[in-house]
Amino acid sequence: MTIITVSLNEFKELQYFIEKECGIQVGENKKYLIETRLSRILFDLKMTSFTELVNKLKFAPPKELVTKIVDAMTTNETLWFRDSHPWIVFRDIILPRMVTEVPQTRKIRIWSAACSTGQEPYTISMLIKEQHRRGILKAAPERFEIIATDISPSALFLAMSGRYDNISMKRGFVDEWLEYRTRYFKDNERFTEINPELKKIIKFKRFNLLDPFFELGTFDFVLLRNVAIYFSKEFKIELFSKINKSLNTGGMLMLGSSETLLPEIPGFKPSMHNRTTVYLKEAP
Ligand SMILES: C[S@@+](CC[C@H](N)C(=O)[O-])C[C@H]1O[C@@H](n2cnc3c(N)ncnc32)[C@H](O)[C@@H]1O
Repeated sequence: MTIITVSLNEFKELQYFIEKECGIQVGENKKYLIETRLSRILFDLKMTSFTELVNKLKFAPPKELVTKIVDAMTTNETLWFRDSHPWIVFRDIILPRMVTEVPQTRKIRIWSAACSTGQEPYTISMLIKEQHRRGILKAAPERFEIIATDISPSALFLAMSGRYDNISMKRGFVDEWLEYRTRYFKDNERFTEINPELKKIIKFKRFNLLDPFFELGTFDFVLLRNVAIYFSKEFKIELFSKINKSLNTGGMLMLGSSETLLPEIPGFKPSMHNRTTVYLKEAP
């Protein structure tokens, strides 16, 4: 399969289309991303130029084609216990706080809002299970519900399978978390499988962050990690306002370790714990 070159005009059309569909901005310095990630789609459709694709996208493009393009343009980079220190804050501060403050009459709801191939929601599930096993967490894992969403069907497929290759299993299990690798995974000849018990409290769902959030319900803790970096400032402002509304009273938000909330985004109060910032929903 050859990589097909994209002209500036074709690039601009595709750039507009991708941002409209999923919010992802592809800068002009990233033209190669369109070429390397979308040439396969052209090849499968027996097209020889990006103009043919652009024309097909102009009038009522087939849904499956749009899904394929968006899927190809997502960056699904992730790892177990990503950045390590936020998970200590989750384990020692956020988890106990939710158990104490969320009314016993309902589940504690956590949203992994761009869960990619599942490492993030499974990391949460492992921490809940392990803290309970150690007798530190006084709530049973069944008291929690983790909603794990992503726009990428191929990433979600892997997440739901709970099966990982050697390369992904080598990423993230630093000394601090090595015990979890041993306790919660089973190695097979071809892959490593997560303990199915951990899946019981997770619901995976394909979801576009551009869409309204009502159908998801409300949450006590939202993780929006390493995804807003791909979006425009306008979209970020709208997105964080929607997240704020979807948080219950006392709800918390966590971003990726290199991300911060724009100062013009209202409704959150940062709370620093060592190197990790937790954003608390402000009372109205
Ligand atoms: C770099 S990964 C981050 C995964 C994980 N949160 C982490 O920090 O390791 C970014 C994810 O955001 C997803 N994504 C991008 N745009 C999205 C959108 N509009 N709606 C939902 N998910 C989106 C991608 O499919 C990708 O899996």
